[in-house]
Amino acid sequence: MSKTVAIYPGTFDPVTNGHVHIVKRSLKLFDKVIIAVANDNYKSTIFSTAERVELMEKCFEDEPNVEVDIFSGLIADYSVEKNAHALIRGLRAISDFEYEMQMAAMNRTLNSELETIFLMTDAKYSFISSTIIKNVACLGGEIRTLVPVVVVKALEEKYQKESKYYGE
Ligand code: COA
Repeated sequence: MSKTVAIYPGTFDPVTNGHVHIVKRSLKLFDKVIIAVANDNYKSTIFSTAERVELMEKCFEDEPNVEVDIFSGLIADYSVEKNAHALIRGLRAISDFEYEMQMAAMNRTLNSELETIFLMTDAKYSFISSTIIKNVACLGGEIRTLVPVVVVKALEEKYQKESKYYGE
């Protein structure tokens, strides 16, 4: 029997506990989840693509049904390449809805075999985004309950290096 494969795309700059939770829940619905880390061209990121992939791999090193990959170009084409018929997206608040609806409709226009599956983000993570985590970490705030341990360390190193560079 063929395996069900879903793709979870994002920038993941950096991965948060909200993202990790979505992947874990997706594994109950699909045999395999491919975490597709968007290449550098989409957003300006503080972590390079290789760093974002490495952090994600560390989060799922004990999970054989998760693959972490890099993608560029259209996600609709990438899903054909990976023989996946489902895209996973997390919905945090009503404000996510309009953008997500547009993306889902466009992706299905580009690839009629591709369905977008929305999972409601757990309430305890509904207020976080990668940007807000970076803002708080940069100012020395507490983020340990919101991101994986490897990300706490990576952010500390990143911002220590930056403050040295600027002579603080
Ligand atoms: N927990 C925590 N944060 C979450 C979250 C969750 N469950 N779900 C979303 N977020 C946050 C992300 O951290 C991100 O925060 P940021 O904006 O501060 O970085 C924000 O919500 C938006 O995330 P997301 O919607 O996943 O967007 P993205 O920018 O990370 O990724 C792509 C978007 C790359 C998947 C999308 O642009 C894409 O598919 N591009 C490929 C090109 C393409 O095919 N375009 C046509 C599509 S219509």
